[in-house]
Formats: sequence, structure tokens, C-alpha cells
Amino acid sequence: MTAPTRVRVGIIGGGLMGREAAAAFGRWAALVDHPARPELVAVADPAPAARAWFAEQGVATVHSHEELLERGDIEVVYAAVPHDLHEAVYLDVLAAGKDLFAEKPFGIDLDAARHIVDEVESSGRFVRCSSEMPFFPGAQVAIEHVRSGAVGQVIEVRSALLHSSDLSRTKPINWKRQRARCGDIGVMGDLGMHAVHVPFRLGWAPTSVRAILQDLMPTRPDASGHVVVCDTHENATLSCRVETDAGAFPLTVETKRVAPGQMNTWSLEVLGMEGGVAFSTRHPATVERFRVGAAGEQVWEQFQAGHASAFPTITGGIFEFGFTDALLQMWASYLAEREGRLGDAFGCATPREALASHELFAAALDSDANDRVTAVARPA
Ligand SMILES: NC(=O)c1ccc[n+]([C@@H]2O[C@H](COP(=O)([O-])OP(=O)(O)OC[C@H]3O[C@@H](n4cnc5c(N)ncnc54)[C@H](O)[C@@H]3O)[C@@H](O)[C@H]2O)c1
Repeated sequence: MTAPTRVRVGIIGGGLMGREAAAAFGRWAALVDHPARPELVAVADPAPAARAWFAEQGVATVHSHEELLERGDIEVVYAAVPHDLHEAVYLDVLAAGKDLFAEKPFGIDLDAARHIVDEVESSGRFVRCSSEMPFFPGAQVAIEHVRSGAVGQVIEVRSALLHSSDLSRTKPINWKRQRARCGDIGVMGDLGMHAVHVPFRLGWAPTSVRAILQDLMPTRPDASGHVVVCDTHENATLSCRVETDAGAFPLTVETKRVAPGQMNTWSLEVLGMEGGVAFSTRHPATVERFRVGAAGEQVWEQFQAGHASAFPTITGGIFEFGFTDALLQMWASYLAEREGRLGDAFGCATPREALASHELFAAALDSDANDRVTAVARPA
């Protein structure tokens, strides 16, 4: 085995996801024979508490992303900042000649996404968008089952990411629940990429959508207990039309922050004329398959897909896989693809897939506002 390529990474935004990325790099030794090895060299965040956390880990910190981008030793930047900053920060990263691992969504709205993707494509930099849930081994099994042709002609598909934390009326507001910072697309900007990544990758781009968006919590307390306006949509249910050579089928995309009983549940269900497959992170070791037996019996069967990941780890296939493992796999995929060593493994969401998600969300906004079915524009 050749020595892995050292990749010097900088992080812009040292909040929840910035820290998760740092923790994933800290667990890199769990990967077996990976072609690259990230080295976190600096973090930019204006918040003292965020910088203090990284300083404790021995990582250099700066106040602004401009300072971080001046460092010539940084090759890859992970940007995990509020959505109103995505466009400006991503463009600055590209202008500085760095590769980018960008958080979703690609900007606060469709115009921003188009601008970002135009710049990505003219820059020639290696850019991917964060979406880790498809890296669950059970999700990979479900994807391979569909790709094998075992489901036959598709009848319908459901894809979802569901939370329930916003069920609590006393949960303090944050920027993800303020339209000015997270955009008109609300929960779709936050959770939507997770739910559309696999359908898009399987070639199921919607041509139209009928959306119902719900603003279930019009107010929330702020950090000091005052009641303030909470003007985002918490829940989005998208009934999409997907055209195929064999005819159209419905794709239901659900992204919800008020989904009682669901605590970050990612799920995918594909039903076809010859078979079906379903996976949910509620039962991460189990994949369900539908088949029609020799005597015509209709069988939903559960099998233990286990925990073996696309990028092998010292953990093997027995010990339980979780969210942080999915993040490690996503980063393994990003850095392997950047090295030209992805092979047959699942790739991270592309800029074009991020743009297609925005085209869908923009159509969903129109559909809901006008109570009609709206055509989804295709990226030019
Ligand atoms: N992939 C996932 O599963 C996942 C999960 C949660 C959030 N996210 C995404 O990650 C991104 C960040 O979300 P988060 O939950 O980490 O938010 P967060 O609020 O926890 O962290 C954001 C950080 O950005 C910092 N920041 C603000 N302005 C900045 C600037 N100008 N320069 C540098 N840093 C700045 C803030 O101080 C904060 O520390 C968002 O795009 C969000 O949608 C992804």
C-alpha cells in the first residue's frame, strides 16, 4: 500500500457541523487503506466559544474566513455556516483557488445556487455537497438493489428526513428558523438535500411538484425568553412527478421538523412491479425487501444487512453504524474521489445535484403559494 496523500483542510464555521468534521478527521485511523489523510490546520469563526473549542483541540483559529483563505497551505475548505452566508463564502473559497466541501443548501435560494454552480464549473475546483445519510450500509444495500433492476418498473418512491425536535414550543429559536438567515425554502434548505440525493442519483429528477408547506410554529422564545416571530416552514411534503421511459411515477419527498416520534429518521422506500426495497435509520441493521414468490405469494422480508461500510474500517461489519460513521464515510468518499480513487463507491452529492434540489424547492414554493402543480425547471 502507498502512503496516503496528506490533505490540508481548513474549516469555515466552527459550530455543530464544523466540530463534527473535526471529530471525523480525528477518527480517520478507523479507515483501512484510505488513499488520503486529512489534516485540519485552521478554523475560521467569529464566535469566541467556537474558536475556544478548536483551540482546545490544538487547532489554529482565526476570526474571519478571509484570513483563513489567505493561508497558502490549505488545499480543501469545508464551509459550514448559516445559509445566508453560503454564496459569498463559497465564491470566496473558489476565488482563493481551494477545493470546497460545501454544506447544503447551495445558497439561500435558486439564484444563489445558479451563481455558485456557474462559478464552480468555471473554476475547475473539486466541489461536492454534504449529504451523509446515503452512506449508511443499509441505504447502500437498498441503492444497489434498485440498481440491480430487481424492482422492475418503478410504481412509486418515498424518500424522507424527519425530525421532531420542533414539537417543543419552548425550544429557543435559532438562525435555522429565521427566514432571513435560512431562506424562504425553510426546512427544505436544511433537510431537503438528504431526501433528494438518492432519488437524483438513481436518475429520478422530478418534472413537476405539488407541495404542501406548513408553518406550524409562528413564534418561538428567543434565548432570553422573549417571544419572537418564527417565520419558516417547519414541514414540507412534496408530491413529485417523475417521467421514465416506462411511464410516470410519484416520488414523495418529505422533510419535516415536526414529525411526532421521529428523531432524525432518514428513509427510502422503492416499490416496483417485480420487487421492492425499504430502509430506515430507525432500524439501521435491517433492510426490507419485497418479492413475489414462485407460488405467487407476496413476501416482505427483513434481512440483516449488517454494518460493513463502503470504505472499510477497523470496526468491520458487526459493530453498529451511526450518524458519525456516515459522516466519516462521506468524508472518505469526498477525499477518495478528489484523489481519483472513488472506483465503484458511492460519491458525494454533486454541484449539479445541489442545483437540481434548488430547482425542486423553488417549484415547491410556487406550488404551495399558488395551490397548484408547478413544473420543475431543469438546470441549463
Ligand atoms: N450534513 C448535515 O447533516 C448537517 C447537519 C446540520 C447542519 N448542517 C449544515 O451545516 C451548516 C452549518 O450548520 P450548523 O448546524 O453547524 O450551524 P451552527 O449554528 O451550529 O454553526 C454555524 C457556525 O458558523 C459560524 N459563523 C457565522 N458567521 C460566520 C462567518 N462569517 N465566518 C465563519 N463562521 C461563521 C457561527 O459562529 C457558528 O459557529 C448549514 O449549512 C447547515 O444546513 C448539515
